[in-house]
Amino acid sequence: MTIPTNTVDLAGFSPEALGLPGEAELARLAARLFDTQPGIAVPGTDPYGHAPFVTGQAVPGQAIDVHALKRDFPILKETVNGRPLIWLDNAATTQKPQCVIERLAHFYAHENSNIHRAAHELAARATDAYEQARETVRRFVNARSSHEIVFVRGATEGINLVAQSWGRQHLKPGDEILVTVLEHHANIVPWQQVAAQTGAVLKVAPVNERGEVLLDEYEKLLNARTKIVAFTQVSNALGTVTPAALMTQLAHAKGARVLVDGAQSVSHLRTDVQALGCDWFVFSGHKVFGPTGIGVLYGREELLNATEPWQGGGNMIEDVTFEHTRYQNAPARFEAGTGNIADAAGLGAALAYVEKIGIDNIARHEHDLLTHGTRLLAEIPGLRLIGQAAEKAGVLSFVIDGVETVKIGEALNKEGIAVRAGHHCAQPILRRFGLEATVRPSLALYNTHADLDTLAAAVSKIARVR
Ligand code: ALA
Repeated sequence: MTIPTNTVDLAGFSPEALGLPGEAELARLAARLFDTQPGIAVPGTDPYGHAPFVTGQAVPGQAIDVHALKRDFPILKETVNGRPLIWLDNAATTQKPQCVIERLAHFYAHENSNIHRAAHELAARATDAYEQARETVRRFVNARSSHEIVFVRGATEGINLVAQSWGRQHLKPGDEILVTVLEHHANIVPWQQVAAQTGAVLKVAPVNERGEVLLDEYEKLLNARTKIVAFTQVSNALGTVTPAALMTQLAHAKGARVLVDGAQSVSHLRTDVQALGCDWFVFSGHKVFGPTGIGVLYGREELLNATEPWQGGGNMIEDVTFEHTRYQNAPARFEAGTGNIADAAGLGAALAYVEKIGIDNIARHEHDLLTHGTRLLAEIPGLRLIGQAAEKAGVLSFVIDGVETVKIGEALNKEGIAVRAGHHCAQPILRRFGLEATVRPSLALYNTHADLDTLAAAVSKIARVR
């Protein structure tokens, strides 16, 4: 964008001398307002004295300023109970950058139509938007082909899809489904349901005191009866990062199929389904700065095409008679009915935003935050951190002796701090630690060291008046 030059003769007065933003500052502000370049700012602007975060491959030679990133998210300007909002409930859902909000508005203002079917201009625009989003997802997860990317409502629907299609078609009485005790309910209940339908048996790999999967126990549970292994890449309750590629290899060595739940990993770690080697990978758009109601099932193309669809209807068929229906290949095969077109476009914008910042930069920033937050919380008397895996991402779960978790959540809310307090839809792993609930601050790219300083100060106050 070109900044209009001054038409008034200021006779030697520079804008700066008048206390106004100069040309360079205006250009910077305009770039921030009108460009989609996310959070790229002047190095060394962190007002809290923390080392500026230096970028890597995404924007070579420039620094990411987390405070600038924060400004990409309009909701983070909200106040709650008179305090600036500090959003630390990112494992439940992430906030949306302006570019995602604008992408949704743009779709409804300029592109809205159903896809594929109609031969008119808006159908073409909507189809392009939807398919471009699919290609962005393919690139983001490093799938071989966009045919391997199925749009679903979220990770939960992706897992149910696999359980009710592949699972119902392949599982027999006595077959085993292996999960870990870390799983979210979404990666437990669908397997219990398909086990009840087919006579298969659900097995569970345990974790140690730090919340790490016991690999030798996991290996012992793998055998010729194991038909599918489903596990999370990052635990939503503890933050444990599982050795997903190794666990996949071990399962494949026994002939089992592998589904990886990436709901909690996609916003924190690089996703590479080819490097993981898994058969399916699922994630939800809203946990990676995209809209709710849109998510992704990645599946190996030949596997998807060899699987009977679980839902029937329009869009997924090649030909229908009353006697017989021929299905499309993937992905349409698993996308019966009108899809969530606008939100798919929104998800594409969210992933492009993450790519522009660079997921490795995000991972490094969050690693620093996690270290900082862990150190601050660990110093608070009476506070117990739950989940201390050597490899962790995004989550700082804790309890305070003698204080109900819900009371801590309420007290933090009074200070404008949003965290989740409860069972986090992962009751088995909390019970493994003798708990029904924890307080769970969870991180995203826009969180700052100062957010954690404020959190720790508020938690200390709660712990003191226990
Ligand atoms: N799965 C979401 C969470 O962990 C809802 O909070």
